[in-house]
Amino acid sequence: MIYLDNASTSFHKPECVFEAVLKAMHQAGNSGRGSSGEAMEASRLIFDTRYRIARMFEADGPECVAFTGNATEALNTALFGIIHPERENIHAIATEMDHNSVLRPLYALEKRGMKLTILPADRKGRISLTDLETAIRPETKVIVCTHASNLTGNRNDIHAIGEIAKRHKLLFIVDAAQTAGVFPISMKRDQIDILCFSGHKGLMGPQGTGVICVRPGVRVEPLKVGGSGILTFQKEHPSDMPETLEAGTLNSHGIAGLRAALGWIEETGTDRIRQREQRLMQQFYDQVKDISGVTVYGDFSQKDRSPVVTLNIEDMGSSEVSMILDEEYGISTRSGGHCAPLMHRALGTEKTGAVRFSFSYFNTEEEVDEASRAVKEIAEEE
Ligand code: ALA
Repeated sequence: MIYLDNASTSFHKPECVFEAVLKAMHQAGNSGRGSSGEAMEASRLIFDTRYRIARMFEADGPECVAFTGNATEALNTALFGIIHPERENIHAIATEMDHNSVLRPLYALEKRGMKLTILPADRKGRISLTDLETAIRPETKVIVCTHASNLTGNRNDIHAIGEIAKRHKLLFIVDAAQTAGVFPISMKRDQIDILCFSGHKGLMGPQGTGVICVRPGVRVEPLKVGGSGILTFQKEHPSDMPETLEAGTLNSHGIAGLRAALGWIEETGTDRIRQREQRLMQQFYDQVKDISGVTVYGDFSQKDRSPVVTLNIEDMGSSEVSMILDEEYGISTRSGGHCAPLMHRALGTEKTGAVRFSFSYFNTEEEVDEASRAVKEIAEEE
């Protein structure tokens, strides 16, 4: 099997991740619930994971890092936690590159009275920073955008967007689901107020791990309240980070796996991981881009991009192509709509969807050769 669906979830994880989950299942109790050895073991591993995340993403400190179930929950928490249209006249800016995990909360907030501008993307799936600055109004409070499109791999310049946000005193929320662990991201340097990502893609941790990092001074009201392990006799859920954004038992087994993955990434080096993934992406792109009948989407003049190549063959449905790749070649890809409806509309792939090949550090040049050979054969048969 050749797994090329790493933008959905990374499949080949470092061995230490599997070991850490198993070890935690044998040893960890419930963090913050009592002082037994098992509870303390869970607390220690969770604290250390917050610490490592804060270090990797240059958050102010471990208390800025709260765990969620996935990036979608982190983004819902961020958007519903800071945008309250019933309390203020408020305008937010997002982009056509964004995923439904950003768009759907915004549409729900729009129904409650929030004003929304979605920056258009061009035919190559790029947005313009001039459009962004023009869209800012007196009542604008938030800019939210993906770091890289899950459909095309095009990357946004979050450093430049952070500058714009700060110049206009806006909150800047970044969806780093596709880039965390692969690209350097610094909450300080990039002036990010809220950073959201999942632990199971580029970070190579287990599914069920997500993260929201919040800059000190930004108050995010919780989406969920309940057991927190602290302030039990108070009617209100705690308001301090990180407990304010965590209610109920944390996924300490998954977090243990994520902690091991973070250690592996630190040892291996994000630059080395990204360069390898981008080499595989470039190899595949070079091999498929000129095949007759193949259309590749996105802007490949941008070299420092997320390691994704998305394409269609003639007018074949993407699900059919993906099924042939799976059944006849043993190659796993993602097809269909990719939860990015506006990006599909901009690319003109609403009807067909698209076939996405997404690469990981653990893929090989030989696998890429096989995948491009498969695309060529399918195109020739059409
Ligand atoms: N958002 C994930 C993807 O792009 C699941 O496949």
